[in-house]
Amino acid sequence: MRLSVIGCGHLGAVHAACMADIGHEVLGVDIDEGKAEMLNSGKACFHEPGLDEMLSRHVAAGRLRFTTSFAEAAKFATVHFLGVATPGLPAGTYDLSQLRTAVAELALHVTGSAVIIGKSTVPPGTTASLGAIAAEICRHNIDFVWNPEFLREGCAIQDTLMPDRIVIGVASDAAEAVMRDIYRPLTDAGTPLVVTDFDTAELVKGAANAFLATKISFINSMADICRAVGADARVLAEALGMDPRIGKSFLNAGIGYGGGCLPKDVRGLAAFADQNGVHKTSELLMVVDEFNTTRRADVVRMVGDAAGVPVPTHSPTDRLLAGKRIAVWGAAFKPGTDDVRDSPGLDIACRLHDLGAHVKVYDPMAMGNALEESPQLTYADSALEAARDADAVLVATAWPEFASISPFATKAVGASMAVVDACQGIDNSTWREAGWKVLSLTNKLVEASPAAAFASLRTAAAGPAD
Ligand SMILES: NC(=O)c1ccc[n+]([C@@H]2O[C@H](COP(=O)([O-])OP(=O)(O)OC[C@H]3O[C@@H](n4cnc5c(N)ncnc54)[C@H](O)[C@@H]3O)[C@@H](O)[C@H]2O)c1
Repeated sequence: MRLSVIGCGHLGAVHAACMADIGHEVLGVDIDEGKAEMLNSGKACFHEPGLDEMLSRHVAAGRLRFTTSFAEAAKFATVHFLGVATPGLPAGTYDLSQLRTAVAELALHVTGSAVIIGKSTVPPGTTASLGAIAAEICRHNIDFVWNPEFLREGCAIQDTLMPDRIVIGVASDAAEAVMRDIYRPLTDAGTPLVVTDFDTAELVKGAANAFLATKISFINSMADICRAVGADARVLAEALGMDPRIGKSFLNAGIGYGGGCLPKDVRGLAAFADQNGVHKTSELLMVVDEFNTTRRADVVRMVGDAAGVPVPTHSPTDRLLAGKRIAVWGAAFKPGTDDVRDSPGLDIACRLHDLGAHVKVYDPMAMGNALEESPQLTYADSALEAARDADAVLVATAWPEFASISPFATKAVGASMAVVDACQGIDNSTWREAGWKVLSLTNKLVEASPAAAFASLRTAAAGPAD
């Protein structure tokens, strides 16, 4: 089948390449000429394992190409995917302007009946509103479908070719038949297809991300209890995850979630719930998100402690960390990607910089994006270079490279022996045994023997002595 994919960023470029991979002829459309040119040369402007190879292969075979022309897209295909961005607005609601512009532009050029399939993450009601825009501009029948995308950056190709499920919101049998044809290679291989209405399809993605975010904030809140009483959050998570009703994934206590999706989708769903009178749900999601954000201030305080400067809980304004050198290992919002959108590590690095610290950042993959996003920080060519003469090292992204760095080599470059492990990124006991002070989000706040911790717990449970 001939398809166009409009919006060729992380979602769209991967989708276009994968649709070509399962046998379709694909034309990608992006308003960014540089991006389209780069994609035509078989390269994405972001890191995604396997993507460049797949792009080059299908571009060379003539099954895939990219353009900036909507007229060309309308001529090329009658089926069009939408993968443009839906960023969050300050009030938490989604900015749907890219979708509206793309639909209006396409509708101007469509010369017969067509199917438009939305993949971006949106609140319920979006498909209907886009349908109204198309109907005003175009006299031909345009059928809409919502087909939310669940891919994870870092394994986006696998997630697109072997998804856990395909969800489609449809309003006609004809549109459903088109979707079944497009995805037949995947459904034949066993991927379940969920067919539903527009609102449910739109909501599934927001709900999935809100659930994952809640799971992360929940385990982080349990980790805080563990640290307060001297329990071990890693063992707790392991034992919790053995319950199949709970599952092991997303139970790594740490710095909290970030990236281009989870934060904006939690806020987007909270805003949508509030607008629709579902206030308690909105409050629940806002607590999840606020908890996640306060985690960053907690890590700033831990870095202050590691560097020997107490940072107060409430809005520290002074240049308290002036004269302190802090190494930050990791700028990507998670390992395996060069994406720094709403990255907790980069945000913390900026907060430390605002407190007067000299912050040196190193990331194995995200240096270019980090520099563009936060040019005020200093960047180093290696983790050890970042740690040279540092008063404290912060491990902010759990890249495997950091796990293999020796505490002795880090000491040898003159770093004070204090490290904050905010993401379960290093083996805490190895670093402690090497003589380092290790502060982590999963370990005890107060060093105490299990017996002492147990005794203090019993005292607390018994209440104050008479
Ligand atoms: N990145 C992910 O991991 C991921 C996963 C699942 C869902 N999503 C959702 O997918 C959507 C896209 O996310 P992304 O990360 O790919 O965004 P992105 O910013 O990487 O890509 C958006 C692309 O759309 C292009 N664009 C903007 N306006 C356009 C227009 N009018 N016509 C054509 N192209 C236009 C931009 O130039 C850009 O290349 C969002 O709704 C996001 O929430 C993203």
